[in-house]
Amino acid sequence: MARGKSSFVCQACGAISSRWQGKCEACGAWNAIVEEAASAPLPGSAARALGRGRVVALETFEGEADEAPRIRSGIDELDRVTGGGFVFGSVLLLGGEPGIGKSTLLVQASAALARAGHRVVYVSGEEASAQVRLRAQRLGLADAPVALAAETSVEDILTTLKDGAPPKLLVIDSIQTLWTNQVESAPGTVTQVRASAQALIRYAKTTGACVILVGHVTKDGQIAGPRVVEHMVDAVLSFEGDSGRDFRILRAQKNRFGPTDEIGVFAMTGLGLEEVRNPSALFLGDREPDAPGTSVLAGLEGSRPILVEIQALVVPSTLGTPRRAVVGWEGSRLAMVLAVLEARCGVRLGSHDVHLAVAGGLRVQEPAADLAVAAALVSSLLNAPLPVDAVFFGEIGLTGAVRAVAHPGPRLREAARLGFKRAALPAPAEEAAKDAGLVALPVATLDALVARLAA
Ligand code: TYD
Ligand code: MG
Repeated sequence: MARGKSSFVCQACGAISSRWQGKCEACGAWNAIVEEAASAPLPGSAARALGRGRVVALETFEGEADEAPRIRSGIDELDRVTGGGFVFGSVLLLGGEPGIGKSTLLVQASAALARAGHRVVYVSGEEASAQVRLRAQRLGLADAPVALAAETSVEDILTTLKDGAPPKLLVIDSIQTLWTNQVESAPGTVTQVRASAQALIRYAKTTGACVILVGHVTKDGQIAGPRVVEHMVDAVLSFEGDSGRDFRILRAQKNRFGPTDEIGVFAMTGLGLEEVRNPSALFLGDREPDAPGTSVLAGLEGSRPILVEIQALVVPSTLGTPRRAVVGWEGSRLAMVLAVLEARCGVRLGSHDVHLAVAGGLRVQEPAADLAVAAALVSSLLNAPLPVDAVFFGEIGLTGAVRAVAHPGPRLREAARLGFKRAALPAPAEEAAKDAGLVALPVATLDALVARLAA
């Protein structure tokens, strides 16, 4: 192939600049710009065809609107996150840090589908076939009729797949290891990752196979991130968790065929990933009920209620600017709750360090956590434990009013099921608490909660 002009591509965000620079002007990443050969010009026939388009039929909103056909993997925690199974002809990116368990999850999903009689091809660009086989054997999946290949050339993979019926599921582990001879850049660069993904997306759309691309994300963003692929694919799932702990959380960041707020919870065991059907019990497992500064949030992740412990530590600061450290929640939301406590309730925290953590490695995103966070903060400041049998939820407004949140019923029923007796909640949810058999502690304003805790 004739060597074309080269361009300078940021490996973090994919932005192209005209010369090498230390810092990417688009995303601000340092030392991420790499010289890459410009992509090959379109072959003559394709270039000509661009000028002479064909007429496409224009349609109306009325008419057939079929649900996208899917296959369930049979792993409920995974199917919930995808929105009910893998969609045929779609491409899904599974991102996560190395070692988090992406390959393990996909080997298990591949085996489940293959055992159900579907054709599944698993292409590993990272590990030799023997390694993948060893893993499958250790997981007790050796008998599953998955077709396995260790290959990194996109052209070889696609040629191999032409033989026989297209698979229902094609797993590519990982997109960073692939290379296509359509572009000159090295494997792992943005240009290669993008071109390889494009070829596989075309394959999915033309054959109806569901393609899953694995993408490694590193904390420092040094490797060509799968970020450039995110807008090309139909769904992006991220697999998260602390590799020091056993819980893994699967979350949809983008999903053209389903919701993005559902989570799947797994535990990494010696026998692979096990589904956690009762995450509340898991997240409350290490709870020390009498410790000041802890509260239980009756939360909701997608359609599923999840109870989780919120831990706060408020201590006098020795620093000019006190520390605000948050794990598992948004820092800006904590700042808001602190400001409301200060302005509306007279709780002075300006000279205190504040540490806040959601126990168990869960990342809570809903504003319903406000009330549980405020309760934990005040409890820590007063060094007074909260009632052991109480759960909290409610959104706090800037005026200090406690606002209603969605779906109080499932939250309260889950709390009752796990043995809680009381619920501090927004006033409109009082009835729902009674229906669930809990004592309601309606809180109209944050002020009222603080007064009650200080009494
Ligand atoms: P892996 O699926 O290879 O991660 P990724 O593909 O995301 O890089 O899993 C890596 C870790 O999981 C590895 O450190 C070992 C651990 N593991 C188990 O604890 N139990 C198991 O059954 C398997 C297969 C892996
Ligand atoms: Mg892997």
